[in-house]
Formats: sequence, C-alpha cells, structure tokens
Amino acid sequence: MKEAQAGRRVKFFDTTLRDGEQSPGCSMNLREKLLVASHLDAMQMDVIEAGFAASSPGDFASVQAVAEMVKVSAVASLCRALTADIDASWEALKKAKRPRIHTFLATSPIHMEFKLRMTPDQVYEQAVAAVKYARNLCDDVQFSLEDASRSDPEFMFRVIEGVIKAGAGTVNIPDTVGYAIPSQFGELIASIFNAVPNVGDAVIAAHCHDDLGLAVANSLAAVQAGAGQVEGTINGIGERAGNAALEEVAMALRTRADLFGVEFGIDTTKIYAASKSVQAVTGSRVQANKAIVGDNAFAHEAGIHQHGVMMNAETYEIMTPESIGIPRNKMVLGKHSGRHAFNQRLQELGFNFESDHVKVLFAEFKGLADRKKVVSDADIEALARGLATQAEEKARLERFVINSGNTITSTSTVNLYYDGHTVEQVAIGSGPIDASFKAINAIMGLDLKLEAFSLSAVTDDTDAQGEANVKVRHGKRVYNGHGLSTDIVEASVRAYLAAINVLLSEQGD
Ligand code: KIV
Ligand code: ZN
Repeated sequence: MKEAQAGRRVKFFDTTLRDGEQSPGCSMNLREKLLVASHLDAMQMDVIEAGFAASSPGDFASVQAVAEMVKVSAVASLCRALTADIDASWEALKKAKRPRIHTFLATSPIHMEFKLRMTPDQVYEQAVAAVKYARNLCDDVQFSLEDASRSDPEFMFRVIEGVIKAGAGTVNIPDTVGYAIPSQFGELIASIFNAVPNVGDAVIAAHCHDDLGLAVANSLAAVQAGAGQVEGTINGIGERAGNAALEEVAMALRTRADLFGVEFGIDTTKIYAASKSVQAVTGSRVQANKAIVGDNAFAHEAGIHQHGVMMNAETYEIMTPESIGIPRNKMVLGKHSGRHAFNQRLQELGFNFESDHVKVLFAEFKGLADRKKVVSDADIEALARGLATQAEEKARLERFVINSGNTITSTSTVNLYYDGHTVEQVAIGSGPIDASFKAINAIMGLDLKLEAFSLSAVTDDTDAQGEANVKVRHGKRVYNGHGLSTDIVEASVRAYLAAINVLLSEQGD
C-alpha cells in the first residue's frame, strides 16, 4: 500500500445537508439547513454539499440559499449524470463563491444491470458526457462512481481515466452500501494510483457508509492509501447506519498525526458547536458514549482516572476537550451573572446570536436561575437550541390546565393565540400529553401524525428542565419541534407547537 506523503493536504467534504438529510427523521427545512451550513462554513469545511437541486423545489431553494450565504467553503449540489439534473444544479449554485457540480452514476454490475439497465459501455459514455457537459458550466466538477467498492476494478479504472480526461477535478470512490473492510478499501484506493495513468490530474475521494460500523476506519485507510478528500457528515448521520462521522475522521488524523502525516484545513475547535447544531435541528441526539461529541467522551468517572487526569491530563486523555471546542474551567453562571458573561458562554458553546436574541435568551436564563440553584451549560445549550430552531410563533401557547391522575381520564384545556384571537379547546386523552396534543389538533384543524416523541431531563436534579423533541408528520413532510420547561407537560406542548409553527411558516412562504 502506498505510504502517505508527509505534508499532503486532505480535503473535507461535508454531506450532512444531502446524504445526512436522507436519513429517516433527519429532514431539515431551509432555516435549519442555513443554520447548519453557517457552522460548517465557520469550521472552514472545504466543500459543503447543500443538497440535490433537481430532486424537489425545496431542495433547489436550499442549495441556492446555502450557495448565496456561504463565504469560505465551496458549495456542491449532487446531480444524476443527466443534462437536466446538471442544469438544475448549476442554476442553484451559480451565485456561490466557489460552486462545485457533483454528478454520479453507478458502476457496479448489480446497479448497472438491475437499476440502470445499461451496459458498461453505455455507463462509460454517459459518465464522460455528463462530466464534459458539467465542465462547460462550472470549473469545479466532481464525479462519483456509485457503488464503486462492488465494481469491477478494471471497469472502475477505465471510468476514472475517462472522467478525468473529460475534466473532473475530483473523482469519488463511494462505498455506497458500507460493504468494504479497511485493508481492502485501502488497497482499492492504492490500486487506482497504480492503474490510472492520469490520476495525478484529479483528487481521489473516499465516501464511506457505516453499515458494518467501518465508515471511519475505511475513510482513514483511504487517506493512508493516498485519498486527497474524505466525505462524511457531522455526527455520522446518513441513510441506514449513516456516513463516516467527519469529527471522528478529523480527530483521528489530528491525534495520530504521527501516523497519518497529513494536513487538513478544518478548524476542529468548531466541532462541538457544529455537532450540537445538527442535534438541535434534527432532534437526533448522539449517544452518550459516541466518540468525540458524546456527553461522556471526555468524562472520567473512575476515581483512579480522575486522579491521573488531575496530575497530568495526558494520563487518560489522548485529546483535549478544548481541541473540539469544549471550554474547560468555566465560571458557574447563576442569577447574579450579567448579560455579557452569559453571551460569552453562549459563544463558547457555539451559538452566535444577534443582540435581540441574546436579550430574549438572557431573560429566559434569569427566569430559570430563579427556579434552579445552578444553571449548567446543558441548561444554556437547551435554551439556545430552542431559539436556534424556532420558527415565527404563529400559534402561541397562552395557558393550559390539565386534570390527571392514576384513577381518572386525563383532561387538558389549552388556550392558543392564533390568527388574531385566543381559542380554547378541551380534550381527553390517555394521559395529560395525549389530551393536550388532541386539544391543539382540534384548535388548529390540521391532520397531524406524531411520528416520534422523546422527553429527557437536561440535568440530573429533580428541578431539572425537561426537554421534549417531537417529529410531526403532515402529508409527506415531517416537522421537528423542540420544547423546554421545568414542567414536562409544558415542554411537550411547546415542542408540539414549535413543530406546528415550522409547518405554518413553510405554508406561509
Ligand atoms: O453513497 C453514495 O454512493 C453516494 C453518492 C451519490 C456519492 O452518496
Ligand atoms: Zn452516500
């Protein structure tokens, strides 16, 4: 296998907004995509794949908005190897500072025979023609050989050579179904460098899925074999088992620089904030023991470990919390803290709000500090998550009263301010939350299906805030909502209403 060249630069290509968004329950609306894109841009991601412009008007609008907003990163749109798709990508991307058209076609026997119903020669011709067409529109074109890891290597080499000759600056080798094993995937990448004569004219990329839990390991093997670009998502979200978690790839390359000897441009101190923003907008929390960004990733429970870390952090820490953007030794905030200190903490936690929003959050923080003795970072993050993902409040909770117990049917009376007046409804349900949601449905007159609901305590104490996340289906679309309160029924009602407000704001657009 080819040795990695010292000082070689590896690019990071983020597809959280495209492949990540394809994972069940992770769909994002325009506002949410812009929030995540701003974190990726602040992180100096080399390329942000903003969506698949030809797939729907909503995707087209998101790619266009991200392309216009992003300042540092290149912005890509995925498209099939078809002129109409390529045109749509270009139309959505053309105002980007650094646009990239990303076109793809499958090259494995199973995809060519059963999905495309095309011969290898036809696939070769279409791939080359698509790249030539895209290059007439845009200088930066990436071609992906879908299902490359299950393709015939000789055919793969032929296609790579052809698309590079046609002008592709990046050629991506996806392990589309997460089938590869690190040693073998590394050899596949190395074989490209040995077999494709014009390989030096393009960057070879690796795009790995996690079906066997090997996406990050395969990506690292690809880097060792000479890949110049790694693709993945924040928190590893993506179809099925997900994509390679970019924060894990980055921290492995950084922590084991002695082994990999490559450089990269992303700012790892922005990882924590980016991870939190993806968790906030998708409502999908990472597990506590998730590498790099899980709640326990830097927590030391065992006394012997704590003692070692206090004496010298390197006894049990191979990387520092600061290196991913978690500040150490912070001042505890409480009811006497001022707005400046509060805003500074928000920024350390990765939230950059305008001063009006800081004012709103600060008022909420003060209210919470009156009710709770200690306001932790987790509390502040939860407040900020709520604001960051909130749509305009077209329907607002005025009050609710529940009557519930283990021997009676739960009843909820909900008052909402909606459409210029207060509306009240009473409903019964199998519990106070069910009754409250039914009362809200009756007021709004919407046909809604609750697809997912979770409730967790932000901190451990009994006066903790409850944080509710809901996913609500209306027709084909699913809307996320987030609610927070020291009363769990109120948190749930607020989350449900937040999702409805996202729906209403989309309808109003
Ligand atoms: O997994 C895959 O093959 C992809 C390509 C379309 C790049 O996402
Ligand atoms: Zn993929």
